[in-house]
Amino acid sequence: MTKYNIALLAGDGIGPEIMAQAVKVLKVIEARNDVELNLMPVEFGASAWFKTGSSFPRESIEACDKADAILKGTIGLSHEESKQIPIEEQPERGALLPMRRRYDTYANFRPVYLPTGLSHFSPLKPEVIGDGLDLLIIRELVGGLYFGKKETGVNEDGLRYARETLEYDEDQIRRIVEIAFQSAMKRKKKLHSIHKSNVLKSSILWTDIVGEVAKGYPQVEVEHILVDAAATYLCLNPGRFDVMVMENLFGDILSDQAGGILGSLGLMPSACVGPEKAYYEPSHGSAPDIAGKNIANPYAMIGSVAMMLEMSFGMDEESRNLWAAMQTVFANGFSTADLSKADTGMNLVSTDVFGDKVVEALGR
Ligand code: IPM
Ligand code: MN
Repeated sequence: MTKYNIALLAGDGIGPEIMAQAVKVLKVIEARNDVELNLMPVEFGASAWFKTGSSFPRESIEACDKADAILKGTIGLSHEESKQIPIEEQPERGALLPMRRRYDTYANFRPVYLPTGLSHFSPLKPEVIGDGLDLLIIRELVGGLYFGKKETGVNEDGLRYARETLEYDEDQIRRIVEIAFQSAMKRKKKLHSIHKSNVLKSSILWTDIVGEVAKGYPQVEVEHILVDAAATYLCLNPGRFDVMVMENLFGDILSDQAGGILGSLGLMPSACVGPEKAYYEPSHGSAPDIAGKNIANPYAMIGSVAMMLEMSFGMDEESRNLWAAMQTVFANGFSTADLSKADTGMNLVSTDVFGDKVVEALGR
C-alpha cells in the first residue's frame, strides 16, 4: 500500500470550514483505494500567529517538509484585524510567500473551467460564453515584483519613497515557459504568452525566451498578447484562449479577473508546483465576512484536492471522479449562498451539506 503524507493548512477565515469538506472527500478516496493518506493538520496564517507568535511556525514547516503534498485552505484577516500583526508577520508576507519560496513552487496552475451546465454562474452573456469556459492560466509564482529587492526610505527631496524590483533571469522564465508548452501539448496546442514588452524590458526577455522554447514545440501555435489587451479579451471572447502563461503579478491580476468571468473565485482551485513539492489551494481568500457561517462553497477547495490527486499522486481516475461528483451536485440544483442568489432557483445548502453531497455523489 502506498502511503502519502499530506500537510493540512486550514488557515484563517473560511479555511477550516472548507478544509473539513476536503477531509471528508479524502477519507472516501482512502477507503476505496490502495493508499494510506496520513493527514497532518498544522497551524498556518494569522490564526497561527495569534496562537504561536509566528504565522508559519517551526512545527508547520517541519510537517510541510515531510509531506508528499500540502493542502492549504485560506489565509488572511480583515484589514482591521490584520493591523494587530506586525507587517512582516502578516500571513501573506509571513507564511504564504515564505512557503512559495521554501518549496520553489514556481508553476501555478489556475484552471478556469465552467462546463455548459454551470454557465449560469458566469456574468457573461450566453453568446459570449458559448459552450462554457475551459482555459488554463499558468502563472510564474516565485519571481518578479513579489520577490524582487525592496526598499523604502526618504529621498533627497525629503519625500518618502518605495522601490521594488521586477527581475527575471532567463532560467526562471524558461522553466515556466517549458511547463506552459507541455500543458499546451496536452490540451489544444495553443499558447498565449502574456507580456508588456511595449514598456517592460523583462517582457522583452520573456518574449525572446518564449520564441526560443517554441522551437522545441513546433506543433504549438503561439500568440503573444499584451497584458492589457488580454484583460479585455478575457471579457469579450474568453474562448479565444486555451493555455495562457505569464509572470507573477500579471498572473495574480488576470487570474482574479478570470475568477470574475467564472462568476466567483470560489470556482477556481489551483496547484502550485515546485521541483520537489507542490501545494494545492483555492485561489480565493479567507472571506472574513462570511467566516463561521457555514455558507462558503467548498468547490475550489475540493477542486484543489482533485488537482492534488492527479498531479502529486497520479490518481487521475479518482481526480476525474471528484470533478464529476461536484458537477453532479451543481447539476442537481444545489449551491451555497455565497455563490448563488436565492432567486436563481438553486437549492441553497450549507458548506457542510454541500460537502456531504459531494461525498454522496463520489460514492455512486
Ligand atoms: C493569490 C493571492 C496571493 C498573491 C496573496 C494572498 C499574497 O492573491 O494567490 O493570488 O498575491 O499571490
Ligand atoms: Mn491573487
